[in-house]
Amino acid sequence: MEENKLTTSVSIPVTSDQAAISTGKKVGFDLLADAYLQEKLAHFNRERIPERVVHAKGGGAHGYFEVTNDLSKYTMAKFLNQVGKRTDIFIRFSTVGGEKGSADTARDPRGFAMKFYTEDGNYDLVGNNTPIFFIRDGIKFPDFIHTQKRNPQTNLKDPNMFWDFLSLTPESLHQVMRLFSNLGTPMGFRHMDGFGSHTFMWYNEKGEYVWVKYHVLTNQGIKNFTAAEAEKIAGENPDYSVQDLFNAIERGEYPSWTVCVQIMTPEEAAHYRVDPFDVTKTWYEEDHPLIPLGKIVLNKNPINFFAEVEQVAFAPAHFVPGIWTSPDKLLQTRLMAYEDAHRYRLGANNTQIPINKPKACLYTTQRDGNMQVNGNMGNVPNYFPSSFVNVVVSPEVAPPPIPVIGEIKRHVIESIDADFVQPGEFYRAMTSDDKAHFIYNVTDNLKHADPALQYRQTALFYKADHQMGQLIAECLGLDFETIKKLADMTQEKRVAATMPKGKV
Ligand code: HEM
Repeated sequence: MEENKLTTSVSIPVTSDQAAISTGKKVGFDLLADAYLQEKLAHFNRERIPERVVHAKGGGAHGYFEVTNDLSKYTMAKFLNQVGKRTDIFIRFSTVGGEKGSADTARDPRGFAMKFYTEDGNYDLVGNNTPIFFIRDGIKFPDFIHTQKRNPQTNLKDPNMFWDFLSLTPESLHQVMRLFSNLGTPMGFRHMDGFGSHTFMWYNEKGEYVWVKYHVLTNQGIKNFTAAEAEKIAGENPDYSVQDLFNAIERGEYPSWTVCVQIMTPEEAAHYRVDPFDVTKTWYEEDHPLIPLGKIVLNKNPINFFAEVEQVAFAPAHFVPGIWTSPDKLLQTRLMAYEDAHRYRLGANNTQIPINKPKACLYTTQRDGNMQVNGNMGNVPNYFPSSFVNVVVSPEVAPPPIPVIGEIKRHVIESIDADFVQPGEFYRAMTSDDKAHFIYNVTDNLKHADPALQYRQTALFYKADHQMGQLIAECLGLDFETIKKLADMTQEKRVAATMPKGKV
C-alpha cells in the first residue's frame, strides 16, 4: 500500500495526531502555538450545514438515463433525441418530514429527485413517489410542513396539528389516501415508482407544445411494508432504505426504472374531465396511456456521502430547452423556492460544487461571492453584451408564447366536489387486503387526534366513499349519523361544527 503523509489542510506534514503540544506529560496547559490542534477543532465545530428543511433524510446514487423510444417530435430536448442515447444522472431519494437521522420506514411520501447532466445543462426532475400532492397553492406549503413536524411547545409530533390541517384542507384527501395505504411505507427506495407529479410542457423546434406527466416505474416490483413491519424496522434499522440501496449497488444488483410519459395536447387540456394542472389529481391512463420514453439505471454509489448526497441541490426551475413549466400553481411556487434554499444551505456558488456542476459548457457573467472556486471565469468580460467576445444568446430554444387572460389577485381555490372523486376511486380499486390495511393505518393514527377532528376528517372520507367512511367511523367508535350530517354540510359549516376543545 502506498504511504501517505498526514497533513494539515494546507498540506504541511503533521508531526503528531495523538498528542497536543502542552506543558506536561500527565497534566499541563495546551499551547496556542499548536496551530494544528486549533485547525482540527475549529473545522470540527463547522462540520454541520443546515439540513434540508424538508426531505432531510435520504440516500442517493449515480447512474444513467437511456432513451428507448424516440419522442423527439414533441420536444427539442437534446438528451431525448435519439434511441440509445445515454445521459449521466444522479438520484436522491428521501423521506419528507423527519430530521436527518429519522427512520427511513416512517409513513411519509418519498422524495425522488433526479438530476440529468445533459449537453444543454442540468435538468432536474424533482419528484416524489406519488403522482399527486396534498395542496395546490404553494402559499400553504410552510404551514402544511409545520403540521407534519414538531409541536412548538412539546417538540413532539402532534396528531392534532396533523389532522387539523388535513381536515381543513380537503384537497389533500387523495394524497392522504395514498399515504395511509401501504404505499406510504415502501420497502426501501428500490421498490417504489417515481413521478414528476406536476404537468410540464414539452415543446419542439416548430414552437408546438404538449403537456406531459412523468411516470418512473420500478423494475424491481412495487413492495411495501405493513405498518407493523415498518415500525419494527424503524427500531431495528432506521437507515434501512439508505442501506438497502447502497448494498444492492455494491452487490452489482443495479436498480432500474422504466420512464414513461402521458401526453396531452393543449386542445385536449381545454376540455379534460379533470383540471390537468391541478396537482391533487391524476390523468386517467385510459385517456392518456403511458408511453415509454427511456430507462434509468443506478450503477454507482457515491464515494463520499456529504460531498455528493448532502451537497446535491435539485431545483424544479432547472429546465433544459424543450421542457418547461406549466401553469400548475404549486409548480410555480416551487420554481422560486429551491434555489433560495440552496443559497442558504450551500451558498451562492452551490452550482460549482462538483455534484451540482453541469457537464455542459459554462459561460456566465456571474462573478465572485463566497466559495468561488471555478476560476471565476478568468479574464473573460463580466458583462453582456460585450464587443470583446463573441457570445450569443439562444432565442431559438425559447418556449412558445402562452397567451394569458387573467385577473391579478389572490385567487382562492375552494374545495370542490371533484376533490372527492379520485380518492373514492383509489379506495374502490384496492384489494380487500389493501382496504383492511388502509383502514387500520388511518384509524390507528387518527384515533390520537381530538374527537372533533376525527369527526371532521371521517366526514371527508365518507364523502369520497360511503363504505370507507362507515368503516372508519366504526373503528373509531364515532356516531355514524353525525358523520353523514357533517358530510352533507359545506366545508365552512363542517369546520364550524367540529372545533376541537383542546389546544395544540
Ligand atoms: C426539497 C420546497 C413541493 C419534492 C425541498 C426543499 C424545499 C422545498 C425548500 C429543500 C431543498 C434543499 O434544501 O435542497 C417545496 C415547496 C413546495 C414543494 C415550497 C410547494 C410549493 C414539492 C412537491 C414535490 C417535492 C410537490 C414532489 C412532487 C421535493 C424533493 C425534495 C424537496 C424530492 C428533496 C430534494 C433533494 O433530494 O435534495 N422542497 N417543495 N416538493 N422537495 Fe419540495
